[in-house]
Amino acid sequence: MKTIAVLTSGGDAPGMNAAVRAIVRTAVGQGMAVYGVNRGFEGLISDFMSPLSARDVGGIIQLGGTFLGSARCAEFVTPAGRERALRNLQQRGIQGVVIIGGNGSQQGAYALSQMGMPVVGVASTIDNDLYGSDITIGVDTALNIALESIDRLRVTASSHQRALLVEVMGRHCGYLALMAGVAGGAEDIVIPERELDPETIGRNLRDAYSRGKKHALIVVAEGAEYNAQKLMAYFKEHGDLFGFQFRVTILGHVQRGGTPTAFDRLLATRLGCAATELLAADRHGLLVGWINGSVQTTPLQEVTSNAKKLDLSMLELAKVLSK
Ligand code: F6P
Repeated sequence: MKTIAVLTSGGDAPGMNAAVRAIVRTAVGQGMAVYGVNRGFEGLISDFMSPLSARDVGGIIQLGGTFLGSARCAEFVTPAGRERALRNLQQRGIQGVVIIGGNGSQQGAYALSQMGMPVVGVASTIDNDLYGSDITIGVDTALNIALESIDRLRVTASSHQRALLVEVMGRHCGYLALMAGVAGGAEDIVIPERELDPETIGRNLRDAYSRGKKHALIVVAEGAEYNAQKLMAYFKEHGDLFGFQFRVTILGHVQRGGTPTAFDRLLATRLGCAATELLAADRHGLLVGWINGSVQTTPLQEVTSNAKKLDLSMLELAKVLSK
């Protein structure tokens, strides 16, 4: 393989730049040329790509986001959009593509590989909901940002003897909420995988209040049925019953924009290098992820047809520790 392309797709994740840097420099080391595709699959369809040299990826390892740009691209779901993307790649003589992203992006990666283009995926999403990687690029940074916010919120909650409800990202997955809740010492953690109704949360808060707690923290995943807005509406109506006053913070995109932690830079570097080495060895149709403490590959077909399960044992632990 002489020429490959790299793109970042879906929600940006801290560490994507480190992965692109690793891909470009590993490829150059293997004597391959690299195109950087701008704005994910949209760039493939509109032929928005340009060559990247080793120097072009200098000074980006510490930057959050993705300097290539990213997008959620509805057109790539259509056969016409995919055909255009494939034609553009072929016309430029590109023989392999590395696709950095989460679930939607790896669906696109699989579709492109089914059309005959050699593709390797790199596991990257702050949600940590991608089958084929125990942890994905961006999770560690997003989790630390959520945790820093929770620590600050606890200080003010404690000063006023309040209950603080914090909503974190994760789309349909409760991983970020669960881990931030355990590490932040939450009273209750509300996630889509194990829903909690407002009455139970209220009861737990009343108990916490009567045990003399100075504050209460509830971490809610955005994908839970009772998200921050719904819980707030309930507590506005019934708040007097539970002791604490309520305040709500929705963290949202602030979790995505951070400077990648050392863990994310190292993970991205390892996965990026491995992806390029696979293409150089003419191995593709695979996702590169981190499983049991090492770089592993999983067929894209398996990745896209399986859902990752959340380990709920931490939830039991959180219950014990919130006493
Ligand atoms: O998939 C990453 C993620 O940040 C989710 O946690 C969130 O639900 C979604 O992206 C937000 O998407 P957008 O940036 O398109 O609003």
